[in-house]
Amino acid sequence: MKWIKTQNYGEMSRLVAQLFIKQLKDNRNTVLGFATGSTPIGLYEELVKNYNENIISFSGALSFNLDEYIGLARSNEFSYYYYMYKHLFSHIDMKESNIHIPSGDLSFIERSSAAYKQLIEVAGGIDILLLGIGINGHIGFNEPGTCFNSNTHVVELETSTRKANKIHFDNQENVPTHAITMGIASILKAKKIVLLVSGQSKQAAIDFLRTGEVTEQFPASALHLHEDVTIIYTDVK
Ligand code: GLP
Repeated sequence: MKWIKTQNYGEMSRLVAQLFIKQLKDNRNTVLGFATGSTPIGLYEELVKNYNENIISFSGALSFNLDEYIGLARSNEFSYYYYMYKHLFSHIDMKESNIHIPSGDLSFIERSSAAYKQLIEVAGGIDILLLGIGINGHIGFNEPGTCFNSNTHVVELETSTRKANKIHFDNQENVPTHAITMGIASILKAKKIVLLVSGQSKQAAIDFLRTGEVTEQFPASALHLHEDVTIIYTDVK
């Protein structure tokens, strides 16, 4: 596990962007894994900027997102689908058929969980996967207690997660109670993982991760089982 401390959020975003840019330049058909939340917004701005300056193209790339709320339509401004188009996909040349975001549509959730795992396998696996972290150590939406053997599955969100994520919603009641997420086993299959951490609220999570203890009660600790993880962090938002 490689730890890189940056001076501020801007430096963190530029640094992680360089990893994605290199990946795209080394292999135009690369498979990228994306996350949502406040932390990666600077990365997406950097990628759009580099695309606009003709430094990179996503025309041959595929992408898989980590997770989605259950019960929010794609057109809902709080869905991760909406977020990804707003911050990235509407501004770049990735083919729509190459973009994969788990479906939060309850009517075919069972089928879509199994299908998501298969789609990733057919694509040849994820070359570089971006992660953020929740204050309780969740990655994707894998809450404490999630089995490390898990593939894409439905989860009930913890109250603390719904509280933390209410900043993205108009009020807490509107934060969905369930989500669909790539599981820990699927995350660990990515060839390279980059975890971004920003802000004081994540300090306790960082401190735990540094202890090296591996426990299902702290999902991000599964990353100790992977051989190519880079953590880029900053105390300053
Ligand atoms: C959500 C997402 C996670 C993300 C986390 C942290 O719960 N499902 O993938 O890592 O939020 O978000 P933020 O970057 O806003 O702190």
